[in-house]
Amino acid sequence: MFKFRSLVLILCLLCTSVNPNGSPHMIEYFSTLTINEISRIPKSIIEDSILDSSRLIEKYGYPVETHETETEDGYLVTMHRIPRGKHDTNDEKKRIPVLIMHGLFCSSAVWILNGPEKSLGFILADQGFDVWLGNARGNFYSRKHTTLNPDEPKFWKFSWHEIGYYDLPAMIDYILKNTGFSQLHFVGHSQGSTSFFVMGSERPEYNDKIILMQALGPAAYMSHLKSPIFKYLAPFVFTIDTIMSLIGFNEFMPSSELSTVAAHLFCHKDSKFLPLCTNLIFLLCGFNPGQLNVTMLPVYISHIPAGCASRQLAHYAQLYNSGKFRNYDYGSILLNLYMYGSSSPTDYNLTQITAPVAIFFSDNDGMVGLEDVDRLHAELGNPIKKYRLSMTEFSHIDYIWAVDATSILYEHIVKNLKEN
Ligand SMILES: *[C@@H]1O[C@H](CO)[C@@H](O)[C@H](O)[C@H]1NC(C)=O
Ligand SMILES: *[C@@H]1O[C@H](CO)[C@@H](O)[C@H](O)[C@H]1NC(C)=O
Repeated sequence: MFKFRSLVLILCLLCTSVNPNGSPHMIEYFSTLTINEISRIPKSIIEDSILDSSRLIEKYGYPVETHETETEDGYLVTMHRIPRGKHDTNDEKKRIPVLIMHGLFCSSAVWILNGPEKSLGFILADQGFDVWLGNARGNFYSRKHTTLNPDEPKFWKFSWHEIGYYDLPAMIDYILKNTGFSQLHFVGHSQGSTSFFVMGSERPEYNDKIILMQALGPAAYMSHLKSPIFKYLAPFVFTIDTIMSLIGFNEFMPSSELSTVAAHLFCHKDSKFLPLCTNLIFLLCGFNPGQLNVTMLPVYISHIPAGCASRQLAHYAQLYNSGKFRNYDYGSILLNLYMYGSSSPTDYNLTQITAPVAIFFSDNDGMVGLEDVDRLHAELGNPIKKYRLSMTEFSHIDYIWAVDATSILYEHIVKNLKEN
C-alpha cells in the first residue's frame, strides 16, 4: 500500500514539470522536519484530523445519526445524518430531507470539515433541512458487503456506474422510508453528480423522487477538462487499471492511519513540504491558493483520499478519451458484447433525466471544461439553471473547502432549496 502511495507521489512529481503553476523545486522540500515544527500544529487541527464524520458532527454540537443500508448487489453503505440544526429543538417539525453526495476520493466528512457556518452540511441543518451525507461503496465508511470482503479483488469490481445504479437508489429509498417523505433534495459534487446522472438515465423511475438536483462541478462529458495530471495520465489509465488488477491492487489510495500521520508530518502550515501537498491538489483540481486555508490542510489530507476502486478512475479516463458519457468499457469486444449487446459501451441517455437539475460551474475547474458543461446542459431532460460562479478562480476542490464557499456558493444552494 505504501509503495503504491509513493508511486502516485512520484507520478505527481513528474507531472509538476508539465504544470506551469507547479513549483519546479520540489526536491528542496525534502529536508527533515524538526520536533518544534510539529509541536506548533494547533490541537483542534490534530483533533479534526483524527475524528471520523460522526464524532466531528458531535464535536461541533450537532445531533448525529449513523445509518446503514444494503444495496441490491449486497454492499452496505453508510449515511451520516444531521437531523436538525444546532439550536433547533422542535421535535414536531417536518424537515425536508437533503441527500448530499461527495466526489471521487472523498467521503461524508468533506461536508463538515470546515465547521459550522462554513460547511454545507452544517449550514443546511441550521437552515431547517434534514441533512443526509452519503458515502459511496468502497470509501472509508462503506467498506462492507454481505458476502464479499474488501481484501478480495471481487469487492472492488465497480466504478461510479454501480454507485449511481445501486448505492444512490438504496440511499434514497432508505431516506424516504425513514422520513415519510415521497421526494427529497439532492446535492452532488463531481462524482456525486456523475453517479446521479447514471441513476437518472439508467433507472428513470428515480427521477420522480427528486425535488431538485443541484450539481456542483458536474463531471459527465470530460473531453475539455484542463487538469494537466489527468490529461497526462488518462491515455494510460486503462493499462494501469489492468496491471493493477492483475497484481491485486484494486483499491486506489485507501484511507489509512498512515495518511493521517503523513498529513501531519508533511502538510502542516509550517512544513517545508507544504508546497508539495498543495501542488498535488492544485494539479488535479485547478489552482486557487487564495481560497485554501492552509492551516486546515492536515485535516483535509487526513480525510481525503477516503478510498475508492481503481475502476472509478479508469471509467473517468475513458470519458476523457472517448469524449462520450457512456458505460464502462471492458476493453474487449466480447465482454462489451456480453454486457451491452454491442462492441462498444452504450451511451447514458441524459434526456431520460427528467428530475430538475441546476448546474454550478466555474471557469477555473480543472476537471470540468466549459464546453462540457454546455453540452451536458443541452442534453439533460429538465435543466432549470446553469450558474457560472462569480469567482472565476474557483476550482474543482473549492466546492468543498473554499474559504468563501458560503457566500460564493452555499447561499445560492440554500436559496434553491427554499424556492423549490
Ligand atoms: C483557517 O482555519 C483555522 C483553523 O480552523 C481558523 O481558525 C481560521 O479562522 C481559518 N481562516 C479563514 C480565513 O477562514
Ligand atoms: C433517449 O431518451 C429519449 C427520451 O426517453 C428518447 O426519446 C430517445 O430516443 C433516447 N435516445 C436513445 C439514443 O436511445
